[in-house]
Parts: sequence; C-alpha cells; structure tokens
Amino acid sequence: MTGPTTDPETLRGRALDALTAARDRTTLLTTCVDEPDLTAQHSPLMSPLVWDLAHIGNQEEQWLLRAVGGQEALRPEIDSLYDAFEHPRAERPALPLLPPRQARAYAAEVRARVLDVLEGTALHGTRLTEAGFAFGMIAQHEQQHDETMLITHQLRRGPQALIAPDPGPAPLFTGPREVLVPGGAFTMGTSEEPWALDNERPAHRRHVPPFLIDTTPVTNAEYQAFIDDGGYDEPRWWAPEGWAHIRRHAIRAPLFWRRDGGQWLRRRFGVTEAVPPDEPVLHVCWYEADAYARWAGRRLPTEAEWEKAARFDPATGRSTRYPWGDADPAPEHANLGQRHLRPAPAGSYPAGESPLGVRQLIGDVWEWTASDFLPYPGFRAFPYREYSEVFFGPEYKVLRGGSFAVDPVACRGTFRNWDYPVRRQIFSGFRTARSAEDA
Ligand code: AVJ
Ligand code: FE
Repeated sequence: MTGPTTDPETLRGRALDALTAARDRTTLLTTCVDEPDLTAQHSPLMSPLVWDLAHIGNQEEQWLLRAVGGQEALRPEIDSLYDAFEHPRAERPALPLLPPRQARAYAAEVRARVLDVLEGTALHGTRLTEAGFAFGMIAQHEQQHDETMLITHQLRRGPQALIAPDPGPAPLFTGPREVLVPGGAFTMGTSEEPWALDNERPAHRRHVPPFLIDTTPVTNAEYQAFIDDGGYDEPRWWAPEGWAHIRRHAIRAPLFWRRDGGQWLRRRFGVTEAVPPDEPVLHVCWYEADAYARWAGRRLPTEAEWEKAARFDPATGRSTRYPWGDADPAPEHANLGQRHLRPAPAGSYPAGESPLGVRQLIGDVWEWTASDFLPYPGFRAFPYREYSEVFFGPEYKVLRGGSFAVDPVACRGTFRNWDYPVRRQIFSGFRTARSAEDA
C-alpha cells in the first residue's frame, strides 16, 4: 500500500483504495446493529457508535475538504460535538448528536466531495499532500475508529451481531520458546515511510543491549498457570499501583473471563465459549502483563527491544518495514484487518516471522511494552499536536504490533499505540523478555 513511489496515479489509487476499505468496514460495523444500539452507550469507556461515525466524517471534512481542498465548513455548528478533547467519552451520549441517518448522510456527503478533491490535488509539493499523506492519515484515522467501534461491539451486551471465519489451527511449531537478539545499535522509527504518523518519526539510531524475547505472545494456558499459582493474591508480583488497582476493582482474571466450575469461559462478541488454551491472552492491562512477567522471572520488553526484534535484520544490519521484510502485509503474514474476530493460535503465520524467528509480532494482539509514550529525538508534531504530542508522558504505556482488529494501513513495524496501564477493553496481550546478562 505505501512502498515508495512518486507516480501520481499509483498514489491516487492507493489513497482511494485505503479510504474505500475504511468506509466499507465502518459501514459494516454501523449497520449490523439496530438504531437503539447505535445511539446507546455500551460502556462509559466508549462513545456511542453513532458518535464515532460522525466524528470520522468530521475529521475527514476538516483535513481533506478544509485543509487540503480549501473548502468552507459544511456544518460548522457540529465541529465541537465531535471534538474528542471538548467532550470526554462518558459525556457524549448526552450531546445533541446527529441521529444515525443524518450521521451516515453527513459522512457520505463529505466522502463524495473528498473524491473530487483527491482527483484535483497534486500529491507532492506540500508536506500535507506529499505522497498522499493527508489521505493516508484520514484512512488510518477511520480504521483506528473501526477498531474502537469493534471494542464497543465486544463490550455490548446482547446477541451476536458480527461473524467472521476463525483462523486455522497453528501449524506444528517446533521452534525455541525464546530467541537471542544481539546487542548493538539499530535504526528505530522511520523518515521514509510516506504515511507514517508523526510519533514514528524521525529514524534514529538506538543502542540496545543483547536480550532474549519470547518467540510468540503469552498464551491463555500460560496465563492461566499464573492465575492457578495465586498470581492475583501475591503482592510481590505487582507494581504497587497495579496491586492497589486490582484490589480496588476485585480483578482476578482477564476482562471477559468467567470461572464456571472447573473451567474458564470467556465472552467474545456475544458468544460465551471455553477459553482456548493455545491462543494469545487478550484483554489484560499493563499491570497484569507486568505482574505475569515478574512471576515468570522475566520482564516486559522495552519499546526499542520490541522494534529491534521486529525490524532488525542481522544479515544486512538494516531495519525492514515489517518482520517479514519490506512487502506490504498479505493474509499469510499476519492476522490483521478484522478478517478473524480473534487472535490466531500461538505459532501461527510462519511466513510472517522475523529473521531471528520471532512470530506474530504484527497482528493478533497489541503487545504491552515496558515503555512510557515519549517523543523520539527530533520529533515534530505534524499535522496537529492533538494526535500524539499532548499524550507524551509517563501516564501512558506503549503498545506495539497491532491486533486482529487493526487494518494493515494503520499497522507497521514502526507504528506506536498507547494507553493507560489500567486499560483492558482494548485488544491487548503481551510477550516477555529478559536481559542476556541474566542468562
Ligand atoms: C492512537 C488509538 C490511541 O483512539 O485515542 C483516533 C487514535 N486519535 N482519533 C485513540 C485516534 C484520534 C488514538 N490511539
Ligand atoms: Fe478520532
């Protein structure tokens, strides 16, 4: 989708395909439930689905019609309703939001005009339009909200509304449980990827001491061993704030898990099922990941370690775009794009493994890292401070790699996500690491 090219028709085609794919996904997520389900708030953590829908259109209008196209506001009076900073999620249901039919019509009208702007815009010459950046940014924004809306679907009570085929069983995986990543400098971040967002930039050299990292994400069976060993009752495994948090909220298992006699069940998109042992654990917060790692005699990888494991090719010394190389993601590489509504078993996607043999770095589950969300040296906010810059600081932890719910357009070896360490409604899991000196 975004390899280097300057051919204007290729770039225009990519932008059009990315915008169209995002809208197809949005349409599915907002037509598979009825109107009351679109306007209801299914969790105080989330917006009503109809807010996401009009916010997607409003963000697209602001950047592609106004900033790129130089057009006047279509409906200036609604801008503030859909400004994420003016109204926290919990307040949004009380706002005079556009009802579903109007929200759909608004997003469609913006899109129709955007297609004309795309035809008439030279995709070079300004930073905002260079290689179609603004169009790629807006396609990513819509896909990010499509993941957010899928989280809302998971939180929603009631019958199943979404279906997708399951991923196949894992191929027989006989590789080692962890691999050694050699110490030394590598290139972190990017200055070349045309649609990379501001927080992924610029490329810079980072020294990383040698370390070992899990070949696959931690599975449900492994996590259950931590539960069975009394992990949730043992303060020494927990960061102090994490211990206080799980005590206060009586947290004893991943979100959506329920104990039924001798077995663990989970609710997934309206269906209750036995927890599958070989699937990467999902819906754990940073504190749970951190405690599990300590219990296992290990730790979470830092963000730099994660990216080195994902991108560093020891044969060339280069950092590639993805673990498998520079090719755009294809279905054999990774579980992305809501093709499946669950992670694939640990050990899946041999074609997606890194040169060192690390699997499932991209797709399946977002992976918590040990790191706070901070700017890279030389960071410059672009095109707006509210995407990344206002979130930098110790209150957010970085997640990497993307989940089954992320579209390939919004997922790269350099892509950075972040959230509060207590959050677990997101499609979050983790893998563990240890320093080679401890070996
Ligand atoms: C990058 C996923 C943390 O959802 O808050 C959407 C993405 N930014 N609209 C979020 C985003 C503005 C953002 N995350
Ligand atoms: Fe947004």
